[in-house]
Amino acid sequence: MPKAPSGFLWGAATAPHQIEGNNVSSDWWALEQAMPGMQRSGDAIDSYHRYAEDMRLLAEAGLNAYRFGIEWARVEPIPGAFSRAELAHYRRMIDTAFGLGLTPVVTLHHFTNPRWFDWLADDAVQRFQSYVRQAASILGGVPWVCTINEPNMLALMIGMARDARAQRSTEEWMSPTVEGAARPVLPDPDPEIGDRLAEAHHAAREVLKERTGAAVGWTVACQALTATPGNEARLREVRRIREDLYLEAARDDDFIGVQSYSSQAVDGNGVVPHPQHPDNTMTGNAYRPDAIGIAVRHAWEATGHTPILVTENGIATPDDTRRVAYTQEALGHLFDCLDEGIDVRGYLHWSALDNFEWGHWEPTFGLIAVDRETFERQPKPSLAWLGEVARRGEV
Ligand code: BGC
Repeated sequence: MPKAPSGFLWGAATAPHQIEGNNVSSDWWALEQAMPGMQRSGDAIDSYHRYAEDMRLLAEAGLNAYRFGIEWARVEPIPGAFSRAELAHYRRMIDTAFGLGLTPVVTLHHFTNPRWFDWLADDAVQRFQSYVRQAASILGGVPWVCTINEPNMLALMIGMARDARAQRSTEEWMSPTVEGAARPVLPDPDPEIGDRLAEAHHAAREVLKERTGAAVGWTVACQALTATPGNEARLREVRRIREDLYLEAARDDDFIGVQSYSSQAVDGNGVVPHPQHPDNTMTGNAYRPDAIGIAVRHAWEATGHTPILVTENGIATPDDTRRVAYTQEALGHLFDCLDEGIDVRGYLHWSALDNFEWGHWEPTFGLIAVDRETFERQPKPSLAWLGEVARRGEV
């Protein structure tokens, strides 16, 4: 059995808005109140107060890393007014992780913005950079920093919001990660918005390289796209606009975060919807544990061999046995990539806990279940299983 290289990160990932609760200064909070029929994050799973318990469960199981985020909307709820108390809160999280033997992997932006912020405004990049400057002040010792999570998905969301505003769209709101996966009627991300995000990423990287010792990268939603016979050229076109622009922007980064859940084919019409199948996951994805291998190999090529950290991979399922089966097979594919000589630095499972899946509470991705009334945590067998894999360093 192949062994993970020494120093390999074995962990789990979360995002602030999905777990913290009461993220009232964020644009997603505002959206949740404005959209009839959309489920609300509310208290989420109160990880804002319970993060130490969450981290302890991961560490006790045997994991050695935890990816979590700093919420910009809390740190800068009003333009230019930075909260020292919130920055200190996130520093406590970092110290707690270190104290438990967990390597912190910190994300600076995960889909949510302060309400006042607009990515399309002229000063957007400077604003983001100025937030990153403040965040950098508490990142001492943190070895891994992700600037922006899934800029390709974010570009799509920004474009959709812009179009909805312009046309005063009355279309029902659609979750980008839930309905979007099942119905690839979602538009392509606008490459101009993508360019702006790449500019913001590079501006953030500059600050972080100057002020911290962290390895800096961003994380890309990798759809593990494959061509149907004769459609290789179409695949290249689709992949370019959906992910390669974002992978290429990571060529000079310290690492690229690969995030992969499923795989889809591309035919002459574009991305083929996930076929209806009883095995599909709770977010409508085809059950494709092989996706991570396809995604990692493509990211390795498209970035020109930037080291890879798997920052998300997992499955929305109510059946924890299936989670273990999916992950075991996915890790087999990841180890094949290591065997082929691809520089993979770690595997962070999505997600540490069942959480708020962007407008939906039903899909459960967690290694730990949470009672949403008492907030009691209940580790699932998959957590112990992954912890054991981590301890032994082999699948
Ligand atoms: C996002 C997560 C999300 C996950 C599962 C990724 O697109 O980064 O926030 O919960 O996929 O859908």
